[in-house]
Amino acid sequence: MSYGLFKYLHILTVNITFALFVVRGFWMITNSPMLTERWVRIVPHINDTLLLLAAIALTHLGGWRPLTDLWLTAKLLALCLYIILGSIALRPGRPKLLRIQAWLLALVVFAYIVLVAVSKDPWPF
Ligand code: HEM
Repeated sequence: MSYGLFKYLHILTVNITFALFVVRGFWMITNSPMLTERWVRIVPHINDTLLLLAAIALTHLGGWRPLTDLWLTAKLLALCLYIILGSIALRPGRPKLLRIQAWLLALVVFAYIVLVAVSKDPWPF
């Protein structure tokens, strides 16, 4: 598969992950039982796996180095933060206000990751 196809797959799965995260956030806020549906718990994992595999392929094929290319380092660290915030927001058991705050903050971190990706700059502002 070519770099272009992996980039297409990466961006497609980035859009799907964003859409699923937003809709699950609304279901969390509205106490919807949808959040516990089997497919809602499985599909995001499949999509995120494809996202990461495409990211690894792009990094390899493009000759990017995660510790040398600082935009990539920033992206990886921000991704860890996004995953932590996302699991606080979407897993049951924590106070609702905290979950909503974590969800909003995760959206900010997601926007930062996209800005870093497009600008190739760890400080894209
Ligand atoms: C939620 C997580 C992620 C989001 C939202 C995201 C977003 C994006 C976007 C929007 C682009 C296209 C940039 C452009 O066209 O200028 C991109 C490209 C890329 N991403 Fe990601 N990404 C994520 C995770 C990752 C991870 C974990 C890695 C590395 C391990 C990675 C490596 C890359 C590479 C190498 C490119 C190609 C750069 C280029 O050819 O211009 N991404 N990403």
